[in-house]
Amino acid sequence: MRETDGAAAPARDRFARPMRDLRVSVTDRCNFRCRYCMPREMFGADFAFLPRDQILTFEEIARVAGVFARMGVRKVRLTGGEPLLRHGLPELVRMLAAIPDIDVALTTNGSLLAQQAAALAEAGLRRVTVSLDSLDDAVFRGMNDADFSVAAVLAGIDAAAAAGMAPVKVNAVVRRGVNDHTAVDLARHFRGTGHIVRFIEFMDVGTTNGWRLDDVVPGGEIIEMISRELPLEPGGANYRGEVAKRWRYTDGSGEVGVITSVTQPFCGDCTRARLSAEGSLYTCLFATKGTDLRDAMRAGAADDDLARIIGGTWEARDDRYSERRSENTAGLPRIEMSYIGG
Ligand code: GTP
Ligand code: 5AD
Ligand code: SF4
Ligand code: SF4
Repeated sequence: MRETDGAAAPARDRFARPMRDLRVSVTDRCNFRCRYCMPREMFGADFAFLPRDQILTFEEIARVAGVFARMGVRKVRLTGGEPLLRHGLPELVRMLAAIPDIDVALTTNGSLLAQQAAALAEAGLRRVTVSLDSLDDAVFRGMNDADFSVAAVLAGIDAAAAAGMAPVKVNAVVRRGVNDHTAVDLARHFRGTGHIVRFIEFMDVGTTNGWRLDDVVPGGEIIEMISRELPLEPGGANYRGEVAKRWRYTDGSGEVGVITSVTQPFCGDCTRARLSAEGSLYTCLFATKGTDLRDAMRAGAADDDLARIIGGTWEARDDRYSERRSENTAGLPRIEMSYIGG
């Protein structure tokens, strides 16, 4: 069913969006407790994380990814929780990198990257995105709420670059009154290094992070703040559906991006499917219900059966949550981001 085979075209949803990316959560656990994602009050010592036998094995993930690849998916991004907490992750990278036409990427909080970067690169990982919300240690520790230092994450970014995974994308979630005053520092620090900082508008994912529209700093405002000191001009998209809007420094010293899922949603081009750690397929970050693939596999489904389930789910998809966000959507149930994968 690969497009280039001249066989069936890739699945399209009800708005004709093709399925191109697969984000795989390899664990629902994390060693951080970012207040905007896994606040400690909700994800404390007695929180019931998924038991091991309910989580997909590497073989199951690689098998599902192979089916997605046959159906037109070209990029697999490993997420979590914190993916580097999953024991032996380089082995999974190796299995995924062996699938033809698939680009494998990873989104991590960076705290364990210094130790693991070389093994991940050796296994075939080429691209990594590291979350880092501020270079100010007090601000950063306040946000991750688990006593991790900026230095540990910077060491992870350096190790990734040294292992050949440069440029690194650096994601910063911006929350008004919390870290917005440190955004320009972050841009200045990475300017000229080749790494690309992307500022993300704080989103109302999940139901535990106390989201309020007042806490969102619009991407446009961040670009203005940076541009006052370090002039920027708009750059074009690398590919259709890219979530970040790109801005280049006018002196040629690099670029930054803004991910404006609140003020300028990008559902129209959304080509992302998500697989939770326990093997449910979700067609939106804000979905309330997934489609099981794990039990189907464990009951003996063949690849063609999986392809039928996946294709049927994608074809029925009409999600565009961020474009419909309003007072009325605020109270709806939602899956947590640490479960479904950022
Ligand atoms: P590349 O283009 O390959 O770099 O990947 P990416 O930008 O999709 O990956 P990344 O994991 O860095 O995504 C950045 C952030 O954008 C995520 O952490 C989310 O906060 C946000 N984001 C990504 N995909 C979606 C989406 O489908 N919907 C919404 N609303 N936000 C998203
Ligand atoms: N709003 C925006 N981004 C978020 N992330 C986690 N929670 C939120 C939220 N509420 C981001 C992380 C990381 C990625 C996995 O998702 O910062 O970059
Ligand atoms: Fe962990 Fe990432 Fe969520 Fe922070 S945003 S708690 S690092 S999964
Ligand atoms: Fe895609 Fe849903 Fe995000 Fe819109 S809100 S971009 S449909 S994941």
